[in-house]
Amino acid sequence: MSTTTTQAPLGSPAIGLPPTATVTLKINGVERQLEIAPWTTLLDALREYLDLTGTKKGCDHGQCGACTVLVDGKRINSCLTLAVMKEGADITTIEGLGTEEKLHPLQQAFVDHDAFQCGYCTPGQICSAVGMLTEGKAKTTAEIREMMSGNLCRCGAYTNIVSAIEEVLNQPR
Ligand code: FES
Ligand code: FES
Repeated sequence: MSTTTTQAPLGSPAIGLPPTATVTLKINGVERQLEIAPWTTLLDALREYLDLTGTKKGCDHGQCGACTVLVDGKRINSCLTLAVMKEGADITTIEGLGTEEKLHPLQQAFVDHDAFQCGYCTPGQICSAVGMLTEGKAKTTAEIREMMSGNLCRCGAYTNIVSAIEEVLNQPR
């Protein structure tokens, strides 16, 4: 497998800290090597250095869920983790979930249920829902609401978001 290296622009390193660190991540099935400042968040690594702008920055403080991605199958807020902490991890972003020809079932359900308005929260909602379904704990509408409560939608599309997730939850697997 080929590995591509992306060099971050060098800033002024803080005293005592190395200017860059090397991190290798498997992103949507492709191994990528980055030379980045060690304090770069996973969110910024994805958006600023890998052009994977599907993952959104809302609050940048772990409060909105717009930046949710899957790391080794588990949903996390990518704004709250440093990229170097995920060395060797398998990361899936919204770009890696489906293709234009064949959407992921949750992507299709969001379209079918009109589960977005501006769409800014949608990648995070979908990645979070994928992680939640993998966790296998949500069985009811109330449980979906509770376990998706970390993903905010300023447009208030919650009713349709829950309907979309419910449809996939109830699909035979
Ligand atoms: S941008 Fe990460 S939780 Fe809001
Ligand atoms: S669709 Fe606009 S923030 Fe959710």
